[in-house]
Amino acid sequence: MNKTKILALVLVLALAVCAFAACGGNDQNAANQGGATSKGAASDTLIMGTEASFPPFEYIDDNAQVAGFDIELSNMIADAAGKKLQVENMDFGGLVAALQSGKIDFVAAGMTVTDEKKKNVDFSEPYFTSRQVIVVPADSAIASKDDLLGKIVAVQEGTTGEEMVREFKETDNGEPMDNTASFKNNADVAMEVINGRADAFVLDEEPAKAIVAQNEGKLKILDVEFGNENYAVAVKKGNTELLNIINGVIADIKANGTYDEMIAEYFPDRAEVGAEDAADVTDEADVPGTPADGEAADGTEAE
Ligand code: ARG
Repeated sequence: MNKTKILALVLVLALAVCAFAACGGNDQNAANQGGATSKGAASDTLIMGTEASFPPFEYIDDNAQVAGFDIELSNMIADAAGKKLQVENMDFGGLVAALQSGKIDFVAAGMTVTDEKKKNVDFSEPYFTSRQVIVVPADSAIASKDDLLGKIVAVQEGTTGEEMVREFKETDNGEPMDNTASFKNNADVAMEVINGRADAFVLDEEPAKAIVAQNEGKLKILDVEFGNENYAVAVKKGNTELLNIINGVIADIKANGTYDEMIAEYFPDRAEVGAEDAADVTDEADVPGTPADGEAADGTEAE
């Protein structure tokens, strides 16, 4: 290769690299590397990802805005980071990928800490303890987990509820129970049962209570014991800068009474037992839907 050819090649390569990295442009993805936010240190915006069919943690309010407990928490996080909050409402099942690709900076979506998710994201300290419940039509004869045998159970895609329903494919007497109907939106999950296309749905307790209340008289929650789950805020793996800010906010609001006020506002019946209980979390709570590797290989589980 002669000198001119090499020079030309270098020039072409430089141009290609420049085009790829959007030199001189303001392509936000190009600035995604590093920093606490996906848009780089220069950005004044922190992008939170959620899925807003999960009241009262996140829902669409009368002004068509995403509102709820998690949005209040997220605003505090943005304040602490000195940034403006932007909320992205997307499929729950897509949140982890959106974090990994830098499309969003953090997830506040009543997301349960599971061993599986821990492999892909970093979680904050937990901020809420919940559990799954079974919801059936008000006049349903279904009263237990085993009664779901051969019935259709609606769930939200990508959730621990979905995992759990798949897990109780087999009842205690070993019969198959594989009738999961998955939907992206919890309103559709509930509609499926209200319209009689599914026999039950499995959902986190507080959103289930909210949805049952919205559909007065049509649905009831079964009194079935499931293990506890802890909700935490998720960031892209390795984003300790943002994670520290989030943990700081959670610690601060628990110490200064703000957290208790939020619990009283959003979960009046939990406030009576005290926020202490609402957030009484052990590090590795029994998280349904996330059997440790090798566990429950025979599909049965002690009640
Ligand atoms: N806690 C459950 C999970 O993490 C369900 C969360 C659903 N959240 C939502 N915003 N739709 O799998």
